[in-house]
Amino acid sequence: MMKIKKAVIPAAGYGTRFLPATKSQPKEMLPIVDKPTIQYIVEEAVKAGIEEVLIITNHQKQAIENHFDRSLELEYFLEKNNKLEELEMVRDISKLINIHSIRQKEAKGLGNAILCAKCFVGDEPFAILLGDDIIVNDEKPVLAQLCDTFEKYQSSVVAVQQVEAKDISKYGIVNPRYINNKDVEVIDLVEKPNVENAPSDLAILGRYILTPEIFNILETQAPGHNGEVQLTDAIKTLLLKEKVYAHKFEGKYYDVGKKIGFLEANIDFALKRDDLREEFMQMLMKKVEDYKFDK
Ligand code: G1P
Repeated sequence: MMKIKKAVIPAAGYGTRFLPATKSQPKEMLPIVDKPTIQYIVEEAVKAGIEEVLIITNHQKQAIENHFDRSLELEYFLEKNNKLEELEMVRDISKLINIHSIRQKEAKGLGNAILCAKCFVGDEPFAILLGDDIIVNDEKPVLAQLCDTFEKYQSSVVAVQQVEAKDISKYGIVNPRYINNKDVEVIDLVEKPNVENAPSDLAILGRYILTPEIFNILETQAPGHNGEVQLTDAIKTLLLKEKVYAHKFEGKYYDVGKKIGFLEANIDFALKRDDLREEFMQMLMKKVEDYKFDK
């Protein structure tokens, strides 16, 4: 049995969909309610038993490293002002897990970003969690579900869910051969196909466990969709050497890399909070009423 111990979180993108917020601030630090999106991702990795995390960054992303480090000045301030709950919260973030970082030198695509993790990963299977994809499952995080699938088949596995036809062209899509209603063997994958050419409606939603063979492939993988080195294309090449599986995971998916998904996540997460639910719900209901009335 091989335990997945290392995870890679690519965070070197420009975040152009969230300009101007991301002009001088990493998009990974934008909060869902009051927690940066990347903290949700790191917490999922921790819950799935990951021991070391590598974040792929660039020169504008120091705020991410600072977030997972200690902040002695802030801790001192909180302690002095007897804000003990906040103090504990701030300290706990720095204790979450060992975080490493490395910079991607040029924005050449997700595949190229993952290649930056080669030395960190070494010769063992590893996890990838994409920061734009927040997936909620309070019982078993999606990455833990993938770890189970990896254990079963001892081969690379990607997390998928069915998406609506209008969303197919936003994702990597797999051509599946069903093993059971949750697991499929991947026959082929296409990055962001047109709906007419898509092999199915099963989209890869930001969680992967891959064997280290992927790095040999990424080293020579030609740019694909959008002129970027695509991870999806490298996994397609991996199929020539090894089997790849997909697991239809259980969990509510938020595409927080898009404005609508980001807003939906903020609403849902606020409604789950005991300190916000009542007041927020009243406010939302009033807004819906006013909106109808204005029409
Ligand atoms: C990336 C991947 C794509 C995947 C998606 C999940 O695309 O290239 O295969 O389906 O993440 O969110 P991006 O959203 O970075 O354009």
